[in-house]
Amino acid sequence: MNAPAMKVPAQQMLDLLEELAVFSAPGPGVSRLLYTPEWLKAQRFLQERMAALGMKVRTDGVGNVYGRITGSQPAAKVILTGSHMDTVLNGGKYDGAYGIAAAVTALHYLRQHFGQPLRTVEAVAFCEEEGSRFPLAYWGSGNVTGLYDGSEADSCADSAGVTIASAMAACGLAGGPEDRGSAAVADSAGRDIPLREDIGAFVELHIEQGIVLEQAGLEIGIVEAIAGQRRYSVKVAGSTNHAGTTPMGLRRDALAGAAELLLAMEQAAAAAGDPLVATCGKLEAVPGTPNVIPGEVEFTLDIRHSEAVALEHFCSRLLAAFEGIAAKRGLTLQFTVNLATSPAPMNTGLNQQLEHIARQQGRSFRSMVSGAGHDAQLFAPVCPTSMIFVPSRAGISHSPEEYSSPDELAAGLNLLTAILYELAYKES
Ligand code: GLV
Ligand code: MN
Ligand code: MN
Repeated sequence: MNAPAMKVPAQQMLDLLEELAVFSAPGPGVSRLLYTPEWLKAQRFLQERMAALGMKVRTDGVGNVYGRITGSQPAAKVILTGSHMDTVLNGGKYDGAYGIAAAVTALHYLRQHFGQPLRTVEAVAFCEEEGSRFPLAYWGSGNVTGLYDGSEADSCADSAGVTIASAMAACGLAGGPEDRGSAAVADSAGRDIPLREDIGAFVELHIEQGIVLEQAGLEIGIVEAIAGQRRYSVKVAGSTNHAGTTPMGLRRDALAGAAELLLAMEQAAAAAGDPLVATCGKLEAVPGTPNVIPGEVEFTLDIRHSEAVALEHFCSRLLAAFEGIAAKRGLTLQFTVNLATSPAPMNTGLNQQLEHIARQQGRSFRSMVSGAGHDAQLFAPVCPTSMIFVPSRAGISHSPEEYSSPDELAAGLNLLTAILYELAYKES
């Protein structure tokens, strides 16, 4: 297999990245939360750009945007590439957007230089991956791979109480059960957002978001597996009372209790060691005022490991330890599992192809595990799936400081374009 030399115009991708970064709520970095006005404008802008580049564009019932170049073999499965349009609050401009900008640039280049592919290729901007607005993640890829069935839209709300269904309706997408049918085409199982059972391969290009490549001085990471994840909401209930009149021994302080739970979690995670990681990223105390003992606290947990058994074991022991601490303090706990994904191995054959092309392109590379979650993990059980990483400066991500250099980004783009050529243009 000798791929033709690719001189993909990286500037086109870099310009698109800058253009997408403008769609942000005010504040540091990029904030483009699911179904907000800035998210909607970005998805619309992308649709226009894809159409201007000659792609066939469509949006599905949850707001995933696809730009397609139709292949000459209509029965062949689709080659899909892309990433997510949403960001975390005050995130960077590369996480997600890089994979989208590169996908659009690669498809345009391939058509200009090699004409119509044999197999249809699509660039996708998934509507959501981060889980930053609603207490679930991978809403875009999860709806088309079967993690969700769309019914979660009615039960799941953001911190202001807005359900996914009403946020979708405000964006002109399928909203509540009564209007979902008109906005989306049901599949044979009656789902409003049809499963993508037509995908032959999915390749996602992404920044590493860690420091492995930079420390090793390597240009490319080829992902062998993505860590599994559990996300929980934990409600701690105690009693609200007067901060001045309630002696320390008579309190059932939900916030002090939550502090003990979280320190216990930090200790347990440190004892478990790499690659186990455990994080509380959000905590709210009720009523949240200086002279009242908080009677209620709600916090999030995000726990990850690359091995399913170790992840399960840590989580079950942690929740049992939490119950013990709560009982000692007279508090009660309620756990909600918001996300449970298994570690996802990437496709070995695809990875071998990537390594071969990386060698041909003279790139230094290694294979690696991704601690960050990605849309690719949902496609891995559905079709051959792989991911390409490029270095992140100082390993920083989910921050306005996120940065990868134009040369690093261009190296990823060239590798992505070449693998897409192999998958879509070559007789198998
Ligand atoms: C997404 O970036 C995640 O790993 O949470
Ligand atoms: Mn991402
Ligand atoms: Mn992210």
